Amino acid sequence: MTPHQISLVQNSWRLLRDVDPAKVGDLFYSKLFLDHPELRPMFPEDMRGQHLKLLSMLNVVVARLDHLDDLANDIAALARRHVAYGVKNEHYTSVGGALLWTLERGLGTDWTGDVAEAWTTCYGVLSGAMMGATENAEVPS
Ligand code: HEM
Repeated sequence: MTPHQISLVQNSWRLLRDVDPAKVGDLFYSKLFLDHPELRPMFPEDMRGQHLKLLSMLNVVVARLDHLDDLANDIAALARRHVAYGVKNEHYTSVGGALLWTLERGLGTDWTGDVAEAWTTCYGVLSGAMMGATENAEVPS
């Protein structure tokens, strides 16, 4: 990511702080499960609190975008836990789609072409790091 893209992601993420995280989470999971109902059984029945997990991880990642290498171990551990949850590489595209869709709705007119591109790159870097970390890992059957 370019330094400009990093600041676009960080500034737009800051704008979203004013939106209730539960609402952002609801929007995200509703969109994800509407488009990909086959993913629903992977998650607990009670989704309360689930949004905080994703958003707090994104908080850490966004804050450290310029030093993502510092997070390599955390990202690898997160990726390994995801393999255990049953997550496959193709699911990252579904989650990325729902995330970008949610950001677009949350940001409204602040979702410009440049911001969209910066977030697409950001998610690509993060999901690429997660998939790369488990490339040779054994997938439990
Ligand atoms: C960049 C991408 C992603 C990030 C940052 C992320 C982040 C997280 C975090 C922080 C947790 C909390 C538990 C833990 O730390 O292990 C979690 C749980 C989970 N994630 Fe992700 N995730 C991502 C992608 C995905 C994808 C692609 C799927 C596929 C559907 C997925 C499915 C799940 C499931 C099933 C759980 C466990 C829910 C539970 O049993 O409580 N995640 N994720």
